[in-house]
Amino acid sequence: MGTPARDGAPVVLTIDGFEVTVPEGMSVMRAAAEAGLDIPKLCASDNLEAFGSCRLCVVEIEGRRGTPASCTTPVAAGMVVRTQSPKVQKIRRGVMELYISDHPLDCLTCAANGDCELQDMAGAVGLRDVRYAPGDNHFETRAEAGGEANPLYVPKDDSNPYFTYDPAKCIVCSRCVRACEEVQGTFALTIQGRGFDSRVSAGTPADDFLTSDCVSCGACVQACPTATLQEKSVIELGTPTRSVVTTCAYCGVGCSFKAE
Ligand code: FES
Repeated sequence: MGTPARDGAPVVLTIDGFEVTVPEGMSVMRAAAEAGLDIPKLCASDNLEAFGSCRLCVVEIEGRRGTPASCTTPVAAGMVVRTQSPKVQKIRRGVMELYISDHPLDCLTCAANGDCELQDMAGAVGLRDVRYAPGDNHFETRAEAGGEANPLYVPKDDSNPYFTYDPAKCIVCSRCVRACEEVQGTFALTIQGRGFDSRVSAGTPADDFLTSDCVSCGACVQACPTATLQEKSVIELGTPTRSVVTTCAYCGVGCSFKAE
């Protein structure tokens, strides 16, 4: 949702028929949240700057063409916003369908089952079916599909002692990259490539987390909305039933350690 704007002059706008007063500079998404209206999102999170990459949070704004991302659109006086119109709902289902068409459907055995934002958002936008047949994807080795090697497939990186990185489950929302930069200030991760070929990379010759500048602070793991970055303890012990927030003396990030 980006950095909350709290100090600007008050702005009055209408969201889904509700009059909302929020500070100037606040995003439409955050203004909607202030009014109790949750807009689906994947690349936005409360502690990161808005990025506008997933396109799940699109809205309609009266008098404006297109469907802007609500996380990167600032409020304006007199703005009339619709967050649940048939048009934006259809766009969100289409976006979600594309994400799911390139995601392994192993939810029942996935360590993030029940604690996965991709799963939650698929439900939130009402996705019930995926029309696209299996084809080029990032999650199958071509041997599994009975063909040549899949150039898009990158195997899981198990090198870090505390977490795993599985590119096959990545939606390239960049939350891990931004958490590494904005929360930890380490700049260990980057997005490599363009378009469908883009992926998170440690940017080192070995391209693994162990040889990167990663300090294992866990900010990227906390930021990940899927099981792409997953704590090894969760994989081994199962989804935790409670969480404890503590701050260690090492980096001051305030890592959230989860335990059963
Ligand atoms: Fe706005 Fe991703 S949440 S574009």
